[in-house]
Amino acid sequence: MKMMPYGKQAIEEDDVQAVVGALKSDYLTTGPKVAEFEGALASYVGAKHAVAVNSGTSALDIAVGALGLPVGSEIITTPFTFVATANCALYNNCKPVFADIDKRTYNIDPEQIRKKVTKKTKAIIYVDYAGQPCDIAEIRDIAEEKGLFLIEDACHALGAEYRGKKVGSFADMTVFSFHPVKHITTGEGGAVATEDAELYGKLKLLRNHGIDKTPGERAGYLYDMKMLGRNYRITDLQCALGISQLRKIEKFIGRREEIAKEYGDALGSTDGITIPYVKSGVRHAWHLYTILLDKRINRDGFFGKMREKGIGVNVHYIPAYKFTYYKQFGINPEDFPNTEEVYSRIITLPMFPGMEGADVERVVAAVKGLV
Ligand SMILES: Cc1ncc(COP(=O)(O)O)c(C=O)c1O
Repeated sequence: MKMMPYGKQAIEEDDVQAVVGALKSDYLTTGPKVAEFEGALASYVGAKHAVAVNSGTSALDIAVGALGLPVGSEIITTPFTFVATANCALYNNCKPVFADIDKRTYNIDPEQIRKKVTKKTKAIIYVDYAGQPCDIAEIRDIAEEKGLFLIEDACHALGAEYRGKKVGSFADMTVFSFHPVKHITTGEGGAVATEDAELYGKLKLLRNHGIDKTPGERAGYLYDMKMLGRNYRITDLQCALGISQLRKIEKFIGRREEIAKEYGDALGSTDGITIPYVKSGVRHAWHLYTILLDKRINRDGFFGKMREKGIGVNVHYIPAYKFTYYKQFGINPEDFPNTEEVYSRIITLPMFPGMEGADVERVVAAVKGLV
């Protein structure tokens, strides 16, 4: 039996043709498709600028890099995320400092952020978990009061809205991922959106070794290396796919919304299950659909039985401080009671635009049969 994945790309014939077109063009990388994709993305999320790179992780890395923070600066973030969110602080000689999550939304709790601010704190990276925007106004208040930079990790939240506006211009920089399980894909890929011209300039440098001119921009052979950058360039093939995918983003999110509603209607009143809580004033982008199991249900047993039925459930996320590498920082899990509790009970159900009604019904029946 083929396992139903928890997430999957939706590639159609127009996407294939878009990539073929780029393959047959003069540019495989650093060509016109990159700027075209960046323009389309910036316009969709309502940002002035966007810089596309080869992954969401690279996007996080250059976002922190563009801030030019002193060694040892503290960056407050959530432990309930993919490790890349915290790792980007370490890449840039900064220290990730975790703040516990809100029990209902699983997003970082602004009150907990407040408690973690020290003289060394320079930035906050907040993650819109599963596609639900954080309490952005509260987080912005803290940043303004304490003089901190904000990075929004919106890798789950392309197309999500907060108070009627798309995420993309609330923080100093907003980061997206185009991994195949995300809302749109470029195979691997990511981007940083910003309103700030200076940050935009630095992001472009950092993507390309810190070099100020691409070969196409040089009059002669001269160029300068102004910062210690990397090669995080994305190809024109990927950007051609990204442009084609972005045209269909609303259709993709619309299907995710339908699936979320079907799950909610079917499981909302099922004993032993808590469905996701959606705050008022947000548009959830439904990257993930998670349920919380009652304490009497063994999550790992449930996970194994769902997998036996061919349903590729997952767990998002193992808290970052639990990993071997993070043990060196001596973080006490007891300091994160909400993260610990949610982690022990949460499970991710399949959610992707290609899911059909029968797939949703199959997942629902399997869940109901196990609780
Ligand atoms: C919250 C979050 N941040 C960052 C990333 C990293 O993105 P990428 O896989 O494109 O490097 C992911 C990817 O899963 C993510 O979920």
